[in-house]
Amino acid sequence: MDSAPSSTSVAVVGLGAIGTRLVVELACAGTSDVFACARRKFAALELVGVETPLECTPRIEVDSAHVRRVDWVLLCTKAQHVESARDWLRALRRDDTPVAVLQNGVEHRERLAGMVRGEFVVPVVVDAPTERVRDGSVRARGPARLSVSRDALGQRFAELFRGSNVLVEQVDDVRALAWAKLVHNCAGAARALEARSTLAAVLGRRELAARLAAEAVEVATALGVVLPAGAGASATAAALALEPDRRTSLESDLALGRPTEIDARNGAVARLGAQLGVDVRWNALALQQLR
Ligand SMILES: NC(=O)c1ccc[n+]([C@@H]2O[C@H](COP(=O)([O-])OP(=O)(O)OC[C@H]3O[C@@H](n4cnc5c(N)ncnc54)[C@H](OP(=O)(O)O)[C@@H]3O)[C@@H](O)[C@H]2O)c1
Repeated sequence: MDSAPSSTSVAVVGLGAIGTRLVVELACAGTSDVFACARRKFAALELVGVETPLECTPRIEVDSAHVRRVDWVLLCTKAQHVESARDWLRALRRDDTPVAVLQNGVEHRERLAGMVRGEFVVPVVVDAPTERVRDGSVRARGPARLSVSRDALGQRFAELFRGSNVLVEQVDDVRALAWAKLVHNCAGAARALEARSTLAAVLGRRELAARLAAEAVEVATALGVVLPAGAGASATAAALALEPDRRTSLESDLALGRPTEIDARNGAVARLGAQLGVDVRWNALALQQLR
């Protein structure tokens, strides 16, 4: 298989579930000079849960003063940690270095406002179920598919992953795809919300998930986003099908007392809905209860 040109330098910021998986894939595919920017060093990285487990020992930097400029930055922190990555972005980028933002939500460009000009931000919709086993070790729970816009930067992003097991697809409307995922994520908050709000518990998980999803669909529609038919119903069904003994990433962060991604998920719907005059009371409640 072809690999990306050997001169391409790639920095992956954030070595959690997604960042580790992508560094391992890029390093093993032979993409040149991939290194990671993390908050601490690990001895080695591994990806398990795939047919052929992969491991590598890439360079891991923990201080932005020690990095040089690269051709691509892949931002793999959670949405709430983008601000803390400011020094990395400043040190790693020339003015026109693209930043692929591999995060949930629909505000990829807005999150980087003041750090990266919008034209150099590449929103990526991530469909790559992955869990962290421990620092440096992640388990795939399904194939990795990344969706980007069908444009020149999307094409260059896709080329980075040539020769790897990561499928990159270029789509006509990445914004609509991001919104469809957001509808799912909003409904997925029902279980956590039910456990933290008497008002939500009275409604019951099915109705709660349906209302969270319906509000998100209404906001998307008000913004002119065309979602697949039945987007709300399929998000509700997925929220009800969550495995009882496995926490979502939102639930894990809540259990560990960490800041959650709620502001980028139900919070985005609550914010945009309020601006547009859409009734978003259940997403606003989720934002209030699940920060
Ligand atoms: N995991 C999945 O299956 C999955 C699937 C689809 C979409 N997503 C989305 O992908 C994004 C990333 O998720 P994830 O599961 O990979 O999250 P994660 O496991 O929490 O990884 C994020 C990593 O970023 C690191 N980080 C935070 N601030 C940093 C900084 N300033 N400098 C360097 N590193 C920093 C964190 O460090 P610490 O280890 O010190 O906290 C953590 O290792 C999220 O938007 C998520 O919703 C995830």
